[in-house]
Amino acid sequence: MSADAPTAAVTGATGFLGSHLCEQLLADGWIVRGLCRPTSERGDLAGVDWHVGDLSDGETLRELVDGADVVFHLAGIGLWSAGPATIWAVNRDGTERLLAACRDGDVGRVVFTSTAGTRRPAGDDAFADETDVAEPVGAYQASKAAAEELVDDYAANGGDAVTVHPTSIFGPGDEAFTAQLLAMGVEPTMPAHLPGGLSIVGVADVVDGLLAAVERGESGDHYILGGENLTYDRAVSRIAETVDGSPARIRVPATAIRAAGPVAEVVDAVADRRVFPFDRDMAEMATQRLFYTSRKANEELGYEYQPLEAHVPEAMEWYRAAVQ
Ligand SMILES: NC(=O)c1ccc[n+]([C@@H]2O[C@H](COP(=O)([O-])OP(=O)(O)OC[C@H]3O[C@@H](n4cnc5c(N)ncnc54)[C@H](OP(=O)(O)O)[C@@H]3O)[C@@H](O)[C@H]2O)c1
Repeated sequence: MSADAPTAAVTGATGFLGSHLCEQLLADGWIVRGLCRPTSERGDLAGVDWHVGDLSDGETLRELVDGADVVFHLAGIGLWSAGPATIWAVNRDGTERLLAACRDGDVGRVVFTSTAGTRRPAGDDAFADETDVAEPVGAYQASKAAAEELVDDYAANGGDAVTVHPTSIFGPGDEAFTAQLLAMGVEPTMPAHLPGGLSIVGVADVVDGLLAAVERGESGDHYILGGENLTYDRAVSRIAETVDGSPARIRVPATAIRAAGPVAEVVDAVADRRVFPFDRDMAEMATQRLFYTSRKANEELGYEYQPLEAHVPEAMEWYRAAVQ
């Protein structure tokens, strides 16, 4: 890496995780190049050298990455914002194009942000680790699993690349998961929550994990960046206790969630658009406890995470100002 001011190229720099990463990189003295689309909201990331284009634009990608010490590939989309074909084109094909640009250019390490969702606890195991590669459920997981293979190939063929797998990221600026979870904790009008469980990780901890992957990750390797494993019940009541709210009290029965899956599929087919972000398989998963261990990242990267309560005040401050 360059002696004093290393250069980072960041895809997804305008997103939830990407904007937190860019802030940290700038604070740490990095030169930061960010990919943004013409339509992207750049927020208040003064100091980022913006490259306008998208993952379908090989020339912009080459300019973005050439000469970068580290390429953080965070750009991606999920089922909440696009259909399966677009998800595949952005998450899988976009990664392929970015890696081609890295091969063509003078690039240090690539750090790819996949998802913990490509792993699931095996059998009766309580937790999943990096070895628990699971059959993808839905287009999002399938596209991320395919992108992971491309990154592994890149590393196996002379490139330097590490893949991280965050669990559900919680923090200010996230209008999806974080806003929903906070709403369940504080809005008396939010009537219900899901019966399963998940691993919740603060966005600041994921940013630290990304930086640790640069410093100490093994090329070709994978690291789960998780947080506390909590049932939705427990997560919601701990948020309510922290902010003195009234948690959602009625739990949606698992049977109702499972029933919603096939209904969503039918509505999708009839309406020819994605009305719900899940089909029957994903509905089934919302009833399960998807718990993860970050032991490998802890032992090999020095990764640590904070309890949920440590992240609630800042997220709540943002939620009250921006969402409510
Ligand atoms: N949030 C989570 O809980 C979570 C958990 C595990 C893994 N991840 C992964 O972490 C990464 C970041 O997630 P996030 O929550 O920060 O998502 P986000 O807020 O939705 O941000 C996504 C970013 O990708 C960019 N993007 C989308 N399509 C693009 C395209 N065709 N070309 C270029 N850029 C494009 C978006 O640009 P615009 O600003 O123009 O929309 C935005 O900057 C994603 O890869 C996601 O799969 C997230």
